[in-house]
Amino acid sequence: MIGQLAATAEAAPHEWKQPALDADARLHQLAPYIGKLKPVIARQLLQRFTAPGDIVLDCFSGSGTIPLEALLLGRRVLAFDTNPYAVALTRAKLEAPVSLEAAAHRLTQRLVAARERPRYADEDVPDWVRKFFHPETLQNALQFADECLEKDDQFLLACLLSILHHQRPGFLSYPSSHLVPYLRDRKFPRTDYPEMYTERALAPRLAAKLRRAYKDGRSVDRTGVLKVGQVGVADLRLDYEVDAIVTSPPYMNALDYVRDNRLRMWFLDRRTANYSPEPTEKQGQSDAITAAFARNALKYLRQGGHCVLIVGETVLRKRIKSHPAERIFATLVEEYPTLRVEQVIQDEIPDVRRSRNTGSATKRELILVLKKG
Ligand SMILES: C[S@@+](CC[C@H](N)C(=O)[O-])C[C@H]1O[C@@H](n2cnc3c(N)ncnc32)[C@H](O)[C@@H]1O
Repeated sequence: MIGQLAATAEAAPHEWKQPALDADARLHQLAPYIGKLKPVIARQLLQRFTAPGDIVLDCFSGSGTIPLEALLLGRRVLAFDTNPYAVALTRAKLEAPVSLEAAAHRLTQRLVAARERPRYADEDVPDWVRKFFHPETLQNALQFADECLEKDDQFLLACLLSILHHQRPGFLSYPSSHLVPYLRDRKFPRTDYPEMYTERALAPRLAAKLRRAYKDGRSVDRTGVLKVGQVGVADLRLDYEVDAIVTSPPYMNALDYVRDNRLRMWFLDRRTANYSPEPTEKQGQSDAITAAFARNALKYLRQGGHCVLIVGETVLRKRIKSHPAERIFATLVEEYPTLRVEQVIQDEIPDVRRSRNTGSATKRELILVLKKG
């Protein structure tokens, strides 16, 4: 059915193809996340299919793009994800201090308290983590992370994680890539670039991060946040009926949310020493997630409410498969035969937004607008 509809899908508005817009809140750029949605897409879908005061559920919240936009538009939000880094980021955006001054004040307190915390011994930190940092930078970053974790300060924790690795001077690691942590010590050898291997002070870098986050002077009113948590869709239980579900399910074949966030995740949970291998065909896992979504998320959607799914297409080793939106829709109607397709929007993802340039990548997004009859 979707196969037919895809042919008549309407094209995405041209502003979806623009780079970041001035209208996008700066908080969206708090920290990187693979497969992150553009704020303008979230904003326009929420404006079209929800109303102020509505309860909006995003059960695959990732970096929190949809919940943050929903909150800024005066909706109430429920946001969940299995990945601890995703939950930390979503909470950081929804619980951001009201002003730069408030954030800076809190930063000073945390930095002072962090210095009093116990130091780490080398054997407490795995080799693959130590390889990324000057030993003193690592100590300071770990003590600061511990202080934020103890105080449940997700905002400053996310600020730390956002400057954890990159090759630029405003970051904490030795030269490394930003989105996914790979050391670039071959491209920037220590002998030729000694300045890239010196200690990096935390305080000025975190202060600069805060100034960037509050550059537009916008703040969120967190009274609309109903619940945010680390919950997989298979375990989702809600106390609310929701007016709309707006979400982007995981791109199972193209992205690996654990492996690609491994360094930031290790800072959040020191037991995350192992991470999954290269992405493989994960159709079974994808189907199980869709079935759980049908059972546990759709049941909370009120009659007549919209379910908006942003579904990425996966291209595996240049072999183009049928769009996963077809399979997802087929599973959902099995559980809810009254589900109707109201609209399909097709968005080509430009190369700059793709996360990888290897064999597997997400190429075309289909936005399914479904209505519960
Ligand atoms: C496409 S991403 C969401 C991106 C998000 N819209 C954003 O702008 O950052 C899909 C998310 O689903 C999460 N996920 C994967 N399996 C899940 C499951 N079983 N239950 C809940 N979340 C899951 C991943 O951790 C990932 O963050």
